[in-house]
Amino acid sequence: MKSTTQNIQNIRDIPKAELHMHIEGSLEPELIFTLAMRNNVTLPYASVEALRAAYAFTNLQSFLDIYYAGASVLLKEQDFYDMAMAYLERAHFDNVIHTEMFFDPQTHTERGVAIDVVINGLHRACVDAKQKWGINAVLILCFLRHLSEESAIETLQAALPYRDKFIGVGLDSSEVGHPPEKFARVFAMSKAAGLRLVAHAGEEGPPAYIWQALDVLGVERIDHGVRCLEDEKLVARLAKDRIPLTVCPLSNLKLRVTPDLRQHPLKKMLDAGLCATINSDDPAYFGGYMNTNWEATFAALNLTATDAVTLARNSFEAAFVDEVTRAGYLARLATCYD
Ligand code: HPA
Ligand code: ZN
Repeated sequence: MKSTTQNIQNIRDIPKAELHMHIEGSLEPELIFTLAMRNNVTLPYASVEALRAAYAFTNLQSFLDIYYAGASVLLKEQDFYDMAMAYLERAHFDNVIHTEMFFDPQTHTERGVAIDVVINGLHRACVDAKQKWGINAVLILCFLRHLSEESAIETLQAALPYRDKFIGVGLDSSEVGHPPEKFARVFAMSKAAGLRLVAHAGEEGPPAYIWQALDVLGVERIDHGVRCLEDEKLVARLAKDRIPLTVCPLSNLKLRVTPDLRQHPLKKMLDAGLCATINSDDPAYFGGYMNTNWEATFAALNLTATDAVTLARNSFEAAFVDEVTRAGYLARLATCYD
């Protein structure tokens, strides 16, 4: 690898883990229309172009409204399978060798789709993608924080018969007004079931939500977490405990968490010694998959080859894998900078 990593080939050469992406956010407009036709679902958009034109977001909620509308075409197990396979092929193309995919069961069960349809379709894609492309893909079930904790508990209980098909739980959807502490009991129950714990915090919400995610929910990683920089003590805590932060630069740009990528906090996070990673969040909606996020961020922040290795290493350090698998990933990374 050369001393600067600003061109496409180099980014693609680097094996990496993606730890923050919502599989429903990988639904491209073309696939939304294909599934709508297949399932006789009427969309409030006349064409792929009209749908894409609606992707002009001003904040998280303006995105979520369209994201939930897009997910309404998912009805059958094959739909979930097709969506996940499309993402996994794309991730493999970007040299993502390990991915942890979020899914939102309540978005589907609220429309009458059974949870086994969701989990079995996504899990079958994980198995087939491993066989086809060698990519390791696992699932993390997210609770929608705009709904009640009772609904989250019901969702966990409905999912537990399929416990072997997902590795952890997370917390997503509208952040402000729905602090992590609202979900203390369901996270305790998830931990008791041996699940790994993550939560979105500090995307639009204040640093206090990151503290709560750590100290009330006991999460092992923070999703986004970019607002941690507003609180020095919090940065020290995140650095000391090596709590990974799964940062999503193009998402932050599109949802106006940052006004300009050149002002994106990722570089400051790395300089503060934080275990930050780059991820795509909702690639079909925010203008790009993994490598597009890397390339745009490297160009905007003048990141170097050293930063690239740090970011890839952080992604493997933060992955929910056993130590033998982690050592294997790090060895694969080492072959590209020796
Ligand atoms: N934030 C919160 N919830 C989400 C997101 C996000 O970026 N994407 C999908 N659900
Ligand atoms: Zn997210």
